[in-house]
Amino acid sequence: GIEVARVPEAVRRRVEAWRAAGETVALVPTMGALHEGHRTLVRSARAGADRVVVSIFVNPRQFAPTEDFATYPRTENADLEALTEEGADLAWVPAPDVVYPPGFETTVKAGPLGQPMEGAHRPGFFDGVATVVAKLFALVRPHRAYFGEKDFQQLLVVSRMALDLDLGVEVVPVPTVREADGLALSSRNVHLSPEDRAVAPALHRTMARMAARLADGASAPEAEIAWGRERILEAGFAGVDYLDIRDPRTLEPVTRAGVPARILVAARLGTVRLIDNVSVA
Ligand code: PAJ
Repeated sequence: GIEVARVPEAVRRRVEAWRAAGETVALVPTMGALHEGHRTLVRSARAGADRVVVSIFVNPRQFAPTEDFATYPRTENADLEALTEEGADLAWVPAPDVVYPPGFETTVKAGPLGQPMEGAHRPGFFDGVATVVAKLFALVRPHRAYFGEKDFQQLLVVSRMALDLDLGVEVVPVPTVREADGLALSSRNVHLSPEDRAVAPALHRTMARMAARLADGASAPEAEIAWGRERILEAGFAGVDYLDIRDPRTLEPVTRAGVPARILVAARLGTVRLIDNVSVA
């Protein structure tokens, strides 16, 4: 099976040997409960570097006290098997107090890219993400790191952080992997009841229709947002945290059709919160 490191020294030793031999190193950060989306990141990483490190760490600092840290799915044995199958070279699987030992007190604070949408609905979320990813980049010192477009705002926050802190890591985006009915793969999908699972594809279906009309210049962003919210609620979602159309680089709201844009959504279905996004070509 794959080699597993549980202390930082074990990661450093391996990665330094690879670098000394002139090999390039890719990192795929995850919280485990690995699915085909994660596997696709690992395959992209394998294609883009000589060595692949995958981290599995459910990061307590990106969960608010009211959120699902305790019930977040944990499937370490199956995860290590999947990573062995995918041919990853090293799994970094630290315990929480290895990442955050007593006395830990430093935070990396996300900037304006982390303010709207997920940042507004999950206070502290992007600071938690930026901090743990900065630590991963500092420990592994990968040439490249692979992130899913599924978490589009996270991808932008992490890319900005890597540039701003001169970490020398190239952040590589990977397109969202979906079920046949359009639902984006997510570790949280296992918590959907069969009824809610049947409702869930409405999220992507609605955004796809909005994107097609916006690309045609057939209607304005504001009208599409109102239309989309109604469709999502009508399909059976309990609430829409946000449904926005934004500039794909700055995340500023887009107010007219015919310009590059990203549609981003977060909506609640039972106790599960789903996020997704699509590009407007
Ligand atoms: P996690 O939700 O486990 O996701 C790990 C990586 O897999 C992220 O880059 C995410 O965007 C990507 N991913 C998830 N579902 C995907 C899908 N359906 N298609 C393509 N990629 C997908 O995101 C996190 O963990 C954490 O915030 C982390 C970055 C690890 C920091 O703790």
